[in-house]
Amino acid sequence: MNHNLQPINITHEVDIAIATSEARVLAEAVGFKQAEQYMIATAVSELARNIFHYAKEGKITIKIIEKGTQKGIEIIAQDNGPGIEDIDKAMTDHFSTGDGLGSGLPGVKRLMDEFEISSDSRQGTKVIARKLL
Ligand SMILES: Nc1ncnc2c1ncn2[C@@H]1O[C@H](COP(=O)(O)OP(=O)(O)O)[C@@H](O)[C@H]1O
Ligand SMILES: [Mg+2]
Repeated sequence: MNHNLQPINITHEVDIAIATSEARVLAEAVGFKQAEQYMIATAVSELARNIFHYAKEGKITIKIIEKGTQKGIEIIAQDNGPGIEDIDKAMTDHFSTGDGLGSGLPGVKRLMDEFEISSDSRQGTKVIARKLL
């Protein structure tokens, strides 16, 4: 069974901090060690920040997942913003169309076990990232 938390709307900058801290608390509840709690929280922080910066608004859903006996956390970041023109470029370190460091998306991929991204100019951007215990 999957336990779903209410999606967190990202509309104001403070929502980034709210989503980040909820992710860490949930990761702790699932049983992740402190270092991994901060990896999951950092991934949520980067994804929420991208929503706020590039799409203006969107939502983050954090779920507890169970694959057989293995538990984990799934993050879904979704927006209806302008989309990412070149996903391969966006996944490269130091690539940024803003004034960022360009390590957000590639960082999320490194911090988590599974990473999926889809994006286009009509539907916006969706990232799914999972980490298993
Ligand atoms: N939700 C999003 N909507 C539109 N574009 C995005 C989104 N997230 C990321 N991007 C694009 O991908 C690029 C790389 O993102 P990221 O790795 O987080 O680096 P940074 O945020 O520092 O630029 C961004 O500069 C932006 O062009
Ligand atoms: Mg970023």
